[in-house]
Amino acid sequence: MYYAAVLTVSDRSFQGERPDTGGPLVAETLKNAGYDVVKTAVVPDEQPLIEEALRTIADSGDVHLLATTGGTGFAPRDVTPEATIAVCDRLTPGIPEAMRYASLQITPRAMLSRAQAGIRGKTLIVNLPGSPKAARENLEAVLPALAHGLEMLSGRPADCAGTSSQSTL
Ligand code: MTE
Repeated sequence: MYYAAVLTVSDRSFQGERPDTGGPLVAETLKNAGYDVVKTAVVPDEQPLIEEALRTIADSGDVHLLATTGGTGFAPRDVTPEATIAVCDRLTPGIPEAMRYASLQITPRAMLSRAQAGIRGKTLIVNLPGSPKAARENLEAVLPALAHGLEMLSGRPADCAGTSSQSTL
């Protein structure tokens, strides 16, 4: 069993102007894949506040996977990728590469996501776009391989050759 957190990055949701639908959908998708979602939070599109939330959640030691939703586009206040890069020890470029590859089969606008992913301590942070549909499509593109990465990250012996490519957990 892996523990997950979902961080919604949105000025409007933080201010209560718009209900957060992306975060709950990401949480539901993770639960359906077998994750225990132990933390959800909403922050505005302010890089210091995003970084603080990422550090606090990752350093709690309570979660293996921290998914963010929102703030990956080109708008001036879209700074989730910059906050993610700032807090990560190591980037994991294959994850956003896979998300964009899969998403490009759905829409050419997939190339507009600047999503990043990386490792802070023993937590894997993965950026997802803000629209609920896009967030779920991106997450579902990488879920089958994530558990193997989390297994390696946790220090458990992980057998690359013996791991099913279809495995979600
Ligand atoms: N990826 C998928 N699978 N489906 C989508 O509809 N929308 C794109 C892209 N990735 C999309 C997608 C669009 S329109 C944008 S602007 C970027 O994600 C960034 O979204 P964000 O600014 O909400 O984070």
